[in-house]
Amino acid sequence: MKKKLIIANWKMNLSIRQGVKNIQTLYRECAKKKSKNTLVLCPDFTTLSCVSHFLKEKKKLFSLGAQDCFYESRGTYTGEISPQNLKELGCDYVIIGHSERRMILQESSDTISKKIHQAIFCGLIPIVCVGEQKLLSQKQGNNFLEKQILVSLNHISLSPSQSIVIAYEPVWAIGTGTSYHASCDPILLKTKIDFLKTIMLKKFGVHLAKRVSYIYGGSVTSKTSHAFIKEGTADGLLVGTASLDLKEFNEIIDSIV
Ligand code: PGA
Repeated sequence: MKKKLIIANWKMNLSIRQGVKNIQTLYRECAKKKSKNTLVLCPDFTTLSCVSHFLKEKKKLFSLGAQDCFYESRGTYTGEISPQNLKELGCDYVIIGHSERRMILQESSDTISKKIHQAIFCGLIPIVCVGEQKLLSQKQGNNFLEKQILVSLNHISLSPSQSIVIAYEPVWAIGTGTSYHASCDPILLKTKIDFLKTIMLKKFGVHLAKRVSYIYGGSVTSKTSHAFIKEGTADGLLVGTASLDLKEFNEIIDSIV
């Protein structure tokens, strides 16, 4: 199987002490695994700076990602997070446009588009989240997704060494816990990924489209993870709640071999 992306989004759930402890535990466990997949851990900003210190001299067993960044790298922007500094901390990835930010902080696709540009400029791989707020008819859902993608990726260009990740995260499937039926059906996921691929190819051309990975997020558990990859054709997973439980998260990692 092609190398898959498994991304943990810890959101704002852990204390710094818990986050650092989880990273140290996962580091020891990853050292024992033979997984060829790419594991990305996205703790909150305060934890990121502590773990980057811990990981500095060590062999790279996983990548670090941030949960957001600002659309400028330097300047008088009180409270914002520079993508350039994230790169300096050792991040390779940054989540942009998560539905919690779109809804709670009213982040628009225009703002998200600027963040994506700046993240790419700073050498980060953006994990761009898209997804409908509620279950819609196929036509309505596709129209919604197309608009979200086109505005978010407005004027995007990638050099041959750059890539982006599109995370299909239907909002209705996020944070529902461990119920299989509350997450997206893998067959429905396949139709969404096919649609996103068609849009990317049509609007951005073959050179850009081939540097995009399509992943799924929304109540992923160790029981459903394999199906999203196999039947859902996802290139990877964005895992929230289940990534906080290290036993469960390890089972997710082991389910994708
Ligand atoms: P969840 O979160 O796995 O708890 O649904 C996923 C996400 O919000 O990225």
